Amino acid sequence: MKKIGILFGMEDTFPWALIDRINTLAVEDVRAEALRTDAVRMAEPTGYRLILDRISQDVPFYRAMLKNAVLSGTIVINNPFWWTADDKFFNYALASRMGIAIPNTVLLPHFKHTPGTSDRSYRNLTYPLDWDAVFQYIGFPAFLKPYSGGGWKSVYKVHNPEEFFAAYHDTEDLCMTLQQGIEFDDYYRCYVVNQSKVHIMPYDPRRPHHERYLKNAVVAGSMRERVTNDCLTICRALGYDLNTVEFACKDGVPYAIDFLNPAPDADVNSVGPDNFEWIVQNAAEMCISRAISNEQPGSHFHWSGFLKPSFSAAS
Ligand SMILES: Nc1ncnc2c1ncn2[C@@H]1O[C@H](COP(=O)(O)OP(=O)(O)O)[C@@H](O)[C@H]1O
Ligand SMILES: [Mg+2]
Repeated sequence: MKKIGILFGMEDTFPWALIDRINTLAVEDVRAEALRTDAVRMAEPTGYRLILDRISQDVPFYRAMLKNAVLSGTIVINNPFWWTADDKFFNYALASRMGIAIPNTVLLPHFKHTPGTSDRSYRNLTYPLDWDAVFQYIGFPAFLKPYSGGGWKSVYKVHNPEEFFAAYHDTEDLCMTLQQGIEFDDYYRCYVVNQSKVHIMPYDPRRPHHERYLKNAVVAGSMRERVTNDCLTICRALGYDLNTVEFACKDGVPYAIDFLNPAPDADVNSVGPDNFEWIVQNAAEMCISRAISNEQPGSHFHWSGFLKPSFSAAS
């Protein structure tokens, strides 16, 4: 029996629908369930062939449990090693090197000293920073947002240096980026599954939550093609098997602005029934095909072997 375990937090629609769908597809020898774990013994097999992780970003115990699971031969989606190593600033830099349109972005030092540090800890840092050069490179409006994070936490739109400094002050000891603001005509959130399937969802982040996913918006053919290719390029480079990539489009150019979402929102109440059906079906198919594949995670003990995706749809 190949068991698939779904690991989740407070969300209550996607995990159960996914478990149901996998079991309804009734592939011989494959069963899905809500994962159960007790205290974790090092290097011991989990009993799961595959685990889909929706919550380890918030629970360090789960992240450590998942790394141990990979070592013991379990396929974990998304790769917990890469997810731990990743941050949004690196992702912007990487994607820009791969030819994806990325708004100009700078990494800023923490406004306040991080715990346990003092002036002496920052002697390598230019002070004051060359703010004129930063503002010239980024322009206004701009977005001040965490170098890694999610859920719109500590995201500020600023229109001038005064607003910027007020917001920066507010961020205390967070590590932040400042990014050129795209005054977009269209905005897309895209599910990317198994590094091979892309579902583009026209979205308006300016609307109230439950109205953000636009039902009747049409994405033109050439834009669809470019966005699809950019999604695949990004997710294959980062090794994510389930992700959303967000684009702010201006004058026909899709700027990728958020693509570190390895536990993307998939609640039917926010994405709506059609998008929900797409993600449930495609995630179920991925879990099954990966569970019955001959992948052997944890068979190479060098660190790079854990970071490297154990599967690549591109190869
Ligand atoms: N460079 C940008 N240009 C335009 N809008 C942006 C930009 N960066 C962020 N936003 C807006 O802020 C929202 C949250 O920022 P995002 O980078 O997606 O962070 P999070 O991971 O918290 O979702 C986006 O959905 C978008 O509406
Ligand atoms: Mg986002």
